[in-house]
Amino acid sequence: MSHPSRRSFVCTAAGALAAGIVAPALAQGTGRMDGGAKPAAAPGAGRIELPMREFGRTGMKVRVLGLGTLQIGIEHADQDTATKVLNTALDEGCNVIDTAECYMKAETLIGNAVAHRRKDYFLFTKVGHVLNDDETTQWAPEWDEPGILKSVDRSLRRLKTDHLDLVHLHSCGPRILERGEAIGALEKAKQAGKVRFLGYSGDHRPALWALDSGKFDSLMTSLSVADQESIDMLLPVAREKKIGVIIKRPIANAAWRHESADPSEYHYEYWRRLRELKYDFLQGETRDKPGPEGGAGVAMRFTLAHPIDLMIVGSSNPARFRQNAEIVAAGPLPAAQVNEIRARWKQVAQPNWFGQI
Ligand SMILES: NC(=O)c1ccc[n+]([C@@H]2O[C@H](COP(=O)([O-])OP(=O)(O)OC[C@H]3O[C@@H](n4cnc5c(N)ncnc54)[C@H](OP(=O)(O)O)[C@@H]3O)[C@@H](O)[C@H]2O)c1
Repeated sequence: MSHPSRRSFVCTAAGALAAGIVAPALAQGTGRMDGGAKPAAAPGAGRIELPMREFGRTGMKVRVLGLGTLQIGIEHADQDTATKVLNTALDEGCNVIDTAECYMKAETLIGNAVAHRRKDYFLFTKVGHVLNDDETTQWAPEWDEPGILKSVDRSLRRLKTDHLDLVHLHSCGPRILERGEAIGALEKAKQAGKVRFLGYSGDHRPALWALDSGKFDSLMTSLSVADQESIDMLLPVAREKKIGVIIKRPIANAAWRHESADPSEYHYEYWRRLRELKYDFLQGETRDKPGPEGGAGVAMRFTLAHPIDLMIVGSSNPARFRQNAEIVAAGPLPAAQVNEIRARWKQVAQPNWFGQI
């Protein structure tokens, strides 16, 4: 069986969105830096009590650190590994699992691993791409109503559940959004009781359109030390409209870990940007230091310092959720450090450093 690599996943998705990218948006306002109160350790349990957020107008209360499952799908984790990753995260207090219709076998792995404890987590998935019956994917777009409804039913089956808490349109461009058929299809799935809330996952202009449309309960978008367009462009609008905000790629794919990168690789764009940004905290020994003051720690706490509801960090390593919860427990980065990173970005970022889908 041949699987497309992470590279082809992103390349195809980027190509699909490119049609909608016309110009950088005008930046408006600034984000409020209230990453939340420092959580306390749960007495006796040894578990870190992650801060809880009201997710937009949905009534869902989500813990600020969720689990991304791109990695267990694209890296072809076996069931044992996926079962450990998912159950460990839930045991550590995670209450959101983010997946997608096209993360290879991820939905099936999740269904097998944690369907029996469905009440412990909110389940977020996406629609918009064809998946073959053998769970490889053609990465082909699937934005018509029959395709989307079929995708929702396939997700329900694979995830072994009777409802999806949130389904995002998976980074379609503005023409698909404006045509309305894809949104209408999700509304039908909601009326049928299969989907509770509707979201748009994407960046730049299409994400702004989605926020302004009044059709969505959630925006999933990129924000990190290497991707700051959303801070001024999208977050203030989302807050004003009380739309839940989920951050994907919150630690910039940890792209600094790679000594070199090929332009076709998933993390390449962030790797390239970070080489120009040359942040102090990503130099020398600090770069790979574990914990809140190391590279991943500072990057995650930067993202946490913005008005977001949830960060989805991806990993196929069962130990990661706990490590990342410890970073979150250190609280958002202090304003002075956030301002330094913002200033450096404003000095160095190119006009075409759009949010990465
Ligand atoms: N369009 C979309 O809708 C879209 C696009 C991209 C992502 N997403 C979602 O968002 C999730 C997160 O995005 P992402 O995975 O692209 O980016 P990310 O969370 O910024 O980075 C994930 C990478 O960071 C590493 N990592 C995690 N914790 C770490 C730590 N404490 N120290 C060092 N490295 C660490 C992981 O590798 P290890 O295996 O070593 O832990 C993984 O390769 C995905 O899993 C997916 O669910 C959605």
